[in-house]
Amino acid sequence: MHSYKDLGLSNTKDMYAKAVDGKYAIPGYNFNNMEQLQAIITACIETNSPVILQVSSGARKYANQILLRHMANGAMDIVKDAGSNIPVALHLDHGDTYELCVSCIESGFSSVMIDGSAHSFEDNIVLTKKVVAYAHQHDVTVEGELGVLAGIEDDVQHEVTHYTKPEEVEEFVSKTGVDSLAISIGTSHGAYKFKLKPGEEVPPLRFDILEDVEKRLPGFPIVLHGASSVVPEYVEIINKYGGQLDNAVGVPEDQLLKAARSSVCKINIDSDGRLAMTAKIREVMATKPGEFDPRKYLGPARDELVKMYKHKNENVLGSAGKS
Ligand code: G3H
Ligand code: 13P
Ligand code: ZN
Repeated sequence: MHSYKDLGLSNTKDMYAKAVDGKYAIPGYNFNNMEQLQAIITACIETNSPVILQVSSGARKYANQILLRHMANGAMDIVKDAGSNIPVALHLDHGDTYELCVSCIESGFSSVMIDGSAHSFEDNIVLTKKVVAYAHQHDVTVEGELGVLAGIEDDVQHEVTHYTKPEEVEEFVSKTGVDSLAISIGTSHGAYKFKLKPGEEVPPLRFDILEDVEKRLPGFPIVLHGASSVVPEYVEIINKYGGQLDNAVGVPEDQLLKAARSSVCKINIDSDGRLAMTAKIREVMATKPGEFDPRKYLGPARDELVKMYKHKNENVLGSAGKS
């Protein structure tokens, strides 16, 4: 058993309490490799922002769970070495089984998500409650999910969105004991969040559902998944240099700002990091065809990621200066 406390990591309890009070959202940034982790940590140190480092089960398979633990350990050493005291959580994103959550807790995660949204309401409660019982013995915080987001969550593809039913949230939270709740209000995973006809604007998220949930669970931490903006500049660069991302659309920043000021206290962003990296790598490959040193294309990609995460912390989530 490796406790997250020995790695200097934090669970999400105090982070969320401060975010709910301060009306901002903490970034939930996914990483799969060294450059992404370096960029997230650098941006959050430089903006003095708390951060939740997210690992999906796909990332865990890709990067090796032992290496991931050491990477998180290294990230904490970098934070301390910089004289920073930003709280850092290591979080399992979209855990789908009890066993996976236990394995992550045993390997040093400080927070886990059990995503039982593919199950019935009753089965979701049973599964989530079981994870909470184990996690809380180790002072690890748990995120549950009610409602289904369209898009790909690891290997599970959901064609349609099922909005969260506000009338279910109180029972779910009280019966499971979860520390935070992901809800579905119209976002989806990936780079194709809305199907728009020519000239059509992105429709507003279902803030009415969010407000109803807030009334039923005053002060309870809510999580928004699928919150990439699908930054148009990156899509343009990717397409300019040979990519094919037609009709990629994300959540406009003004809608995320509005969510961050509500009881939404974690906003999950993965696709924007993928797009920023891909855009820079494509640009270098196309404009400097003689380059074959990975540092010459991964380095600029990492610099772009730092810029993007700082912008989000400062101008969208409001987490800058809140450590
Ligand atoms: O919500 C999904 C995250 O973007 C993780 O994606 O399962 O491809 O690592 P992944
Ligand atoms: P995006 O695909 O919008 O970045 O969402 C990421 C996410 O929700 C991770 O859990
Ligand atoms: Zn998600």
